[in-house]
Amino acid sequence: MPLTAATPTPPRFEHHTGAGPVLGTGARAPRLSWQLSPTESAELPPDFRQDGYEIEMTRAGQSPQRFRVDSPDQVLVPWPGPPLTSRESATVRVRVRSGETWTDWSDPATVETGLLAPADWRARFVSPQGIGGLDRPAPILRGTLTVPAEVVRARLYATAHGCYRAELNGQPVTDEVLAPGWTSYRHRLRYQTYDVTGLLRPGDNQLAVLLGNGWHRGRLGFLGERARYGDRLALLAQLEVTTADGAVHVLATDGSWTAYESEVLADDLYDGQRTDLRLATRTAPEGPVEEVPGDLDALVAPEGPPVRVTQTLPAEQVFRSPSGATLVDFGQNLVGWVRLRVRGHQSGHEIVVRHAEVLEDGELGVRPLRTARATDSYLLAGPDEVVLEPTLTCHGFRYAEVIGVTELSADDITAVVLGSDLRRTGWFESSEPLLDRFHENVVWSARGNFLDLPTDCPQRDERLGWTGDIQVFSPSASFLFDAAGFLSSWLADLAADQYPDGTVPFVVPDILPFSQPAAAWGDAATIVPWQLYQRTGDLGLLARQLPSMRAWVDRVAALAGPRRVWAGGFQFGDWLDPTAPPDAPFQARTDPDVIATAHLARSASIVAEAAELLGEPDVAARYAELAAEVREAFVAEYLTPGGRVLSDTPTAYALALVWDLMPQALRARAGARLADLVRRAGFRISTGFVGTPLVADALTDTGHVDVAYRLLAQTGCPSWLYPVTMGATTVWERWDSMLPDGSINPGEMTSFNHYALGAVADWLHRRVAGLAPAASGYRELLVRPVPGRWLQSAGARHLTPYGEAAVDWERGDGQLTLRVRVPVGTHATVHVPGAPDPVRVGHGAHEWRVADPTPAAPALSSAATVRDLMDHEPGWTQFVAAAVAAGVATDEPGVAAALGRYLDRPAEAAVAALTWGGGRPGGEALRDCLGQLLGSAEGEDAPAA
Ligand code: BGC
Repeated sequence: MPLTAATPTPPRFEHHTGAGPVLGTGARAPRLSWQLSPTESAELPPDFRQDGYEIEMTRAGQSPQRFRVDSPDQVLVPWPGPPLTSRESATVRVRVRSGETWTDWSDPATVETGLLAPADWRARFVSPQGIGGLDRPAPILRGTLTVPAEVVRARLYATAHGCYRAELNGQPVTDEVLAPGWTSYRHRLRYQTYDVTGLLRPGDNQLAVLLGNGWHRGRLGFLGERARYGDRLALLAQLEVTTADGAVHVLATDGSWTAYESEVLADDLYDGQRTDLRLATRTAPEGPVEEVPGDLDALVAPEGPPVRVTQTLPAEQVFRSPSGATLVDFGQNLVGWVRLRVRGHQSGHEIVVRHAEVLEDGELGVRPLRTARATDSYLLAGPDEVVLEPTLTCHGFRYAEVIGVTELSADDITAVVLGSDLRRTGWFESSEPLLDRFHENVVWSARGNFLDLPTDCPQRDERLGWTGDIQVFSPSASFLFDAAGFLSSWLADLAADQYPDGTVPFVVPDILPFSQPAAAWGDAATIVPWQLYQRTGDLGLLARQLPSMRAWVDRVAALAGPRRVWAGGFQFGDWLDPTAPPDAPFQARTDPDVIATAHLARSASIVAEAAELLGEPDVAARYAELAAEVREAFVAEYLTPGGRVLSDTPTAYALALVWDLMPQALRARAGARLADLVRRAGFRISTGFVGTPLVADALTDTGHVDVAYRLLAQTGCPSWLYPVTMGATTVWERWDSMLPDGSINPGEMTSFNHYALGAVADWLHRRVAGLAPAASGYRELLVRPVPGRWLQSAGARHLTPYGEAAVDWERGDGQLTLRVRVPVGTHATVHVPGAPDPVRVGHGAHEWRVADPTPAAPALSSAATVRDLMDHEPGWTQFVAAAVAAGVATDEPGVAAALGRYLDRPAEAAVAALTWGGGRPGGEALRDCLGQLLGSAEGEDAPAA
């Protein structure tokens, strides 16, 4: 009898996630993955395990072939048959064996290749002649195919220099937006494959393709340049139609096509789109096209999902600004455009839509956009109702101003959300609404900045693939979304754009002429593929990236020289350290050399581990030795024998602790010092891009869970939650992109949608909820939550390559309940909070109920030190309030800073420290407050007012 409870899911090909057949893959031998009974795993016998699998493959026009393999592997297993050829499709299903018992066959899944070789293209890149120049209307290119008989199969293969939107017989061929996306165009240009069978008919068929400037010819970067890849727009399209008689008819771009001007007068990703609807219905004069150079060797198939409309949001409020402007609030900072319905206007009437992420003084706050105009405009054709929306641009905004509509109704305006259509795979939830909103903000920032490539920000004149930003965010990203195909494609661009000497450009695709090796940014070359391998188990990706990873490490090792210390030269450092002046974000407290050498050690050890996994022991040994030497050099150069790390900043300790750059014996002292630095900052965050993803782990790993939670729970500025209290709906670039008084930070870097500082989400998933991979691809799970007093409950869910894993815990009545769900094919090592030893469990649902081990707040006794006072949150809050009321400090950081040197002294020293030894008024009130706190406090609730 087959094991019905464990029927595999239909096989997935490579990292493709969409529903339906995978069309146009570039993989000749796509690897296969499946999951076993993700919903009914509980009904499976606990000893069920896959011992082997059988794949049935039916190639188009052939009879099925079966392949049996004895293996427990179910993720990215090799294609069992001969490689596919261009345009070939195959249908695959799978069943698995546990012992001698087979499951049912999965449902089938189909994959079809694209055009795999340049010779498959009959089409040539063509560009309009006489029209379509810079600052001219967007052109439409047209070709006609006469089909003599019933159509049984039709595919359109297409790409462009610029962005394209194709229509066949007046119907859009796809819901994809801004195709072909942005890659390192000089080396890699994506083409798309569409099934257009349903759009063709016997007789004449018109293929019309609108070309916009996109990334190819539009503005790119803050230097204001356009046409970085060339000043001609061009189309490459090949329509292949098979008729019932078996004949194949091809329409391919060549000199016989024609071109005319569309109604899109101007389009730019930064500046917006201008459309004259009066021109839409006219018959424009058609002119010739000509062949232009285009590299067929550079064509690649997509690895990840396309950009699509992923959601629409209604207007939350339409209101008038103080200056009388009509403003719309969509309630969410997002990336996309505005869809507006209008009626009753004269022909030629102009409507303008402007965008901004925030309001300042009640008006659109457009300064953060720098020179991006982010404005769409329309010239109407007449009074009939019409829906206005652009197609060749996108904006980052929460608010829009609409000019030209007198009585705007909220029903007539919608925000359209765009982004790479990534499958959501990760969720987090807790008992704290502010924390949940913060996590939601991280998700929205990922959605907004994952628009074909991972960008720094989606709104200003930048939107570039800044390497440092995704380096720090990749662990969070790969939990929240199935980003494997998306990031793998970007990593191919990174390798393609890497300098011959191994330097990784600041941004990928590289459009900046001045890149240099920069720690944390260039380390995207090693850390991002390593993260992806951890989360997906994709060893093939590591193999593909290894030369790029090595080249980066070799480059930096050469800079470091025989001393193994990477010092001097350009660095971004701990970018946006909150103490850096608004106009100098690199002036961080942590010495950039400390950061640089730490990153060299980290990257060298990643390369060593990767080479080991890839069966290259000699290479592995070389890089392991390098890593060891760099670590030693780091210790000699930057660590004191007592466990201080140079710069004495949270970022320096976080790097040294999390990346294991100090002797075991000094970790406790370094951890204690880090915790003290957090106290001295009044539990405000004091890390930039580099330290922020690591600081909570460093505290947790060294036993300072309470301090980590204090940092997390902080709502004062700067902190993770401060923006949430200011109404943020995305993660901000700066801790204080908006100042507490509601004004926009005067600095240049004031994006309101930057995911880098949201990288702590990974710690929320792995440590607060407690769900982490213990082996690549989550084949083994590590469940090790660290409940904290601040939270009553927390939990996370993740769709691992094997299926859904989940952890949640809840505290109450002195008990803690831990629930864990383990997908089939994996095991979990569970550290039940408070239990001395971990347990290992197999698939299914598990639950533990134990005495709540979360320590109560340490009681304040008369022997309390200043540190104890600070650690006692309710007491500390009262004391800070008393200090402020007494006029000896203005806020928590002020009190903390004054006490920083007295942490080990008796709590009474706090009074003297704040009142200059009693010589300043206010001492009496403080002494009273402290007396109450020390006298009466016993346990958690006692000191509360
Ligand atoms: C970007 C950052 C980026 C940085 C380099 C900025 O303009 O927005 O996120 O990493 O430059 O330091």
